[in-house]
Amino acid sequence: MASGLLAGKVAFVTGAGSGIGRATCRLLARDGAKVIAADRNLQSAQETVKQLMVPAAAVEVDVSSLQSVQSAVSAAVAQFKQAPSIVVNSAGITRDGYLLKMPERDYDDVYSVNLKGTFLVTQQFAKAMIEQQLTNGSIINLSSIVARMNNVGQANYAATKAGVVSLTEVASKEFGKFGIRVNCILPGYIDTPMVAVVPDNIKQQVVQRCPLGRLGQPDEIAEVIAFLASERSSYVNGAAIEVTGGLK
Ligand code: NAI
Repeated sequence: MASGLLAGKVAFVTGAGSGIGRATCRLLARDGAKVIAADRNLQSAQETVKQLMVPAAAVEVDVSSLQSVQSAVSAAVAQFKQAPSIVVNSAGITRDGYLLKMPERDYDDVYSVNLKGTFLVTQQFAKAMIEQQLTNGSIINLSSIVARMNNVGQANYAATKAGVVSLTEVASKEFGKFGIRVNCILPGYIDTPMVAVVPDNIKQQVVQRCPLGRLGQPDEIAEVIAFLASERSSYVNGAAIEVTGGLK
């Protein structure tokens, strides 16, 4: 029997094959949760699962598709015979470019994964929690400090991440009566494959502007997610928490 703050709980994590999602699976497992690692890239989710020492499973999901998310809910419930009470929306993409030159496709793709995907996963998993009468749910969404910094070249991404903050607040108000808390995190620049493609000169500027003088590590976001997943944060609801090393 697992021990730890999250013992007996099932967690469903999207974007689990990389970066923050993978680190989140590791730390939720460390705290005793059973983990379902979900990603569009099934192989990468399976790699994540191999690193965990708890009951865990990998699931393929495209968060931008309702049908795919519904299949993932069924797979998750079947796996551990209970609905996940912890859901982390970490799947996300960037398609950067100046607004005047941004192809419609790049706007639509980023919207479909980052905002619509968060909506679909939140909606479908909350329904499963409510059906199973779970009363201690925690949904954690990955927004971004870009929702407040609004970087040039990220009109699509910034708009979706600001949308995630609003979606989180609305969901927290609607789901409170079911005992489901909904919060989001606004990470700064974290050393993951997503940031690996940012040009070096931009990363240097970020590091210079960051009071802690460095990029963040995925575990430093996952620790806050683990806190929000646990009863230690039992009165935190509808919050948007910056985890940026002080970067504004
Ligand atoms: P990452 O690029 O390392 O991992 C993203 C994962 O999402 C990948 O495994 C990818 O396969 C998966 N994914 C993409 N589209 C998907 C879809 N349609 N359905 C299911 N899975 C899909 O990214 P990282 O850095 O781990 O970011 C995680 C989240 O944190 C994202 O939402 C990102 O926007 C956010 N974030 C990241 C920051 C950073 O500096 N790395 C800063 C602020 C926010």
